Order: sequence, then structure tokens, then C-alpha cells
Amino acid sequence: MNEHAFRSAAADAADRLADHWRSLAACELPVVPPGPPGTTLGVLPETAPERGEDLTDILDDTWRTIVPQLVHWQHPNFLGYFPAGNSPASVLAELVTAGLGVQGMMWSTSPAATELEQRVCDWLARALGLPARFTHASGRGGGVIQDSASSAALAAVAAALDRASGGRWREHGTEGRLRVYCTDQANHSVRKVVRVAGVGAPVLVPTVPGTHSMDPAALAGRLDADRAAGLVPAAVVATVGTTATCAIDPVPRIGAVCRDRGVWLHVDAAYAGSAALCPELRVADAEPDLADSYAVNAHKWMRTGIPCDILWVADRGELTGALGATSSYLRNDATDSGQVVDFKDWQLPLGRPMRALKLWYVLRAHGLEGLREVIRHDIRLAGLLASLVEREPGFRLVAHRLGLVVLRAETDEMTREVTRRLTGRPGVLCTPAVVDGRPVLRAALGSAYADETTVRRVWDTVRACAPPAP
Ligand SMILES: Cc1ncc(COP(=O)(O)O)c(C=O)c1O
Repeated sequence: MNEHAFRSAAADAADRLADHWRSLAACELPVVPPGPPGTTLGVLPETAPERGEDLTDILDDTWRTIVPQLVHWQHPNFLGYFPAGNSPASVLAELVTAGLGVQGMMWSTSPAATELEQRVCDWLARALGLPARFTHASGRGGGVIQDSASSAALAAVAAALDRASGGRWREHGTEGRLRVYCTDQANHSVRKVVRVAGVGAPVLVPTVPGTHSMDPAALAGRLDADRAAGLVPAAVVATVGTTATCAIDPVPRIGAVCRDRGVWLHVDAAYAGSAALCPELRVADAEPDLADSYAVNAHKWMRTGIPCDILWVADRGELTGALGATSSYLRNDATDSGQVVDFKDWQLPLGRPMRALKLWYVLRAHGLEGLREVIRHDIRLAGLLASLVEREPGFRLVAHRLGLVVLRAETDEMTREVTRRLTGRPGVLCTPAVVDGRPVLRAALGSAYADETTVRRVWDTVRACAPPAP
């Protein structure tokens, strides 16, 4: 490929993306693709081309074949799951990152990649009001960019198992005795993480009746009973902003229970953690002063493209003790000096891209004030949607916190019918879920293109899907 072909294709791609964003903002595309399963497979050749093709042809095919069959997560009518962050700064950083093509597994393999990551993780820790011990500047803790909240939780759980077993876990696994705790409201990824870590299923701690938040007294009782039975409680995973209802586990009280018993506390703040950028949105129950680790997905609510999760730990030695590994071919003077951070030892994979550039671009291009405004804007829109739900006969507001609104219709059958009808419409995407055994619809605000008009239009579409009351 010649240099000219790259320059013109990159400019072409930028133009196409800018046009794409404009048409999303104008709602010219359906949020959900029209084709049935197999639509894209049906038009893709079964074998790879023998001869290289022109980049412009490949771009053409992207917009002809792939884009029409995507769910448009950036669409203003997309209210599913939790938002997938994005912004021009993030996209530009991904291009530059890919173009520079470095592999930042160790300080020695790209010093600036590592040091930039240390610095932006510290920036963000301070911006979120996290304890100073989570910063690299503290000399003991620090942040690392992971691909996902799942990977962050896996790293934290590994460190917890290692600590609880006095390092035996590294050689002998859980020996059937190590335990991890969460509630049934924790993201399902926590169960997967605990399974993959070799523990089996997590112990489910009851929630306080009438809430979806962990009961610290029940946790204490369960930890003590398990210890008395010869088991080894290793970690508690608390959630700040559960996926179903955005509930907050009382982190300070859970932290006190864990501290008194030497149990690791990991806080999964994948979605709601970003809200702490706004001082007025910080809540006492979410304060991680007593936590051992804390994770936020910048790729949800910080205008940063997926993947970008930041995991902070109070004691980096505990993390690298569990995940650190080396070989003769990785030995280098910088590592041996003990003066540098090697992020390969803070995560599962060995190799890693330069993860920090994206966050650096986003933080600089938006500024903290700009990111706070994003969050406040989405919260205002969620407030509007919640008030529309509350005013609508035949609908009930099940939960409303930050940018998430959870609702149901009069009866479960009617809620299922709204969901069915809405699913058939390419106009709006909400996510169905089950809360307290009843079907609900979740609507999470987060598109950069959503405004009040969007919210009213979305709500008109949802209520139009309601069947007549029985
Ligand atoms: C509270 C919570 N934790 C964890 C996850 C999993 O995130 P990831 O896809 O980054 O692993 C999610 C996903 O929405 C979530 O809402």
C-alpha cells in the first residue's frame, strides 16, 4: 500500500464517519437493522480475496453491507443496556494509536505509553474524588486501563484470592475453600469472573428488603459463618450502579465489614462511577475509602470508545503478586531496577495496545467540565423521561437513578406486549429485564445526539406500543 492511498482513504473514512454521525443525529437511520439473521453472511464471500483490494472499495462495502445491518449505539433513540461512549476525540485517538502500533506490555517496550497511562489514571482518580492511595503518585497504588469491567473484576478477584490464601492460590488454586461474595443484583459478569477464577459460583448475599442493595449485616453474618465452617472468604464485589436498576451497595459499611475481617473489597462502578466527576452527584454510599480496588468503564459514560475500563488498586504489589509472570525473553534492566511499572503484570494478557492515548485525548478535548456537562445533560433527560412515565396512566416507574429509567406497564402481560411491539420497531431500542420477578423495560440515556425532543418522541413510541388495559 502506498502512502497516498492511506492519506486519501483516511480522509475519506473521516468524511464518511462525520456524515454518518450527522445522519444519526437527524434520525435518518433506523436504530435497529431491518435484516433477519444471516443477512450479512449472505452477502459476504465465503473465502478471503486472493488479491489485495482498493481501500476505497473496502470503505464502500463497509457502508453498503455492514453499516445498514448494525445496531446504532450512538443513535439518539438508542436507550438499551448502558451507553457505549464515543466522541471524535476518542475516534481520532484510536486512529493514532493504531497507526503508531506500539505494544505497551512493559515500560521498556514503550516508556511513554506506560507513563501516560499512569498519569491519566491519576488524573481520573483525582477527578472522581477517589482516595489518594489509588494513585500512582502515592507510590503504592495506581490505576491500569483494562478492556472491560469483567477483566478488571477478574484481576481484582485474582489478587484477592492470592492475598486470602497467603500466595498459595498461585500454586494450588482455591483448594475448594476460597469464597467470593456479591448480591444477585451484581452484573452477571461477576459470576463469570468468579467461575473462571476457579471458585465456582459466588455466595449471594441478601439485599435489604425493598432495595436492591447489599445488606452489610447479612454480609458480616455470612462471612463469619463461612469462616467458622473452615472456608476462606476472599473477596466481596460491591456494585455502584447495578445494571438492572442502578442500585448502590453501601460501600462504606461493606468496606468496614471487609476491613475487620481482612476480606478484599472490589467495587464495580462500571456505569455509575462516571457520575462522581460531578461533585454534586457523589453519594456517601458510593465512597470507596475502604475498598481495595475500584473499576469504572470510561467507555460507558465518558465519551470514550469501547474498550476502556480503569481499574484502581490500593496496593499494586497485591495485584502484581497474583498476575505477575516473566520469562527470560522479557527480562530487561528497567524491570530489574524496580523503578518502572510493567502493566503486563496488572492484567491477564501479556500484550496490550497503548491504551491511554484514547483517554488522554478525551480528557483533554472535553475537559472535566465538558464531561460533567455530558453527565448532567443525560441526567436531565432521564429526569424528563421519568416524569413522563409517572404522568402516564397505565405505566409505573420502577426505578430512576442517574441516566437510567426503569418502567413497567400495568400488568406483566402488558409490559411483555410493549416489549414485543417495541422490539419489532426499528425506531427505539430499550432493554427488557426482570426486577423483583416482574418484567420491566430499561431506558438508559447516553447518546450525544439526544435532546428533549428525542425523549418525548421515544416516550410517544413506547406508550403507543401499550395494549389497551384489560
Ligand atoms: C454494573 C456492571 N458491571 C459490569 C458490567 C460488564 O461490563 P464489561 O462489558 O465492561 O465487562 C456491566 C455492563 O453493563 C455493568 O453494568
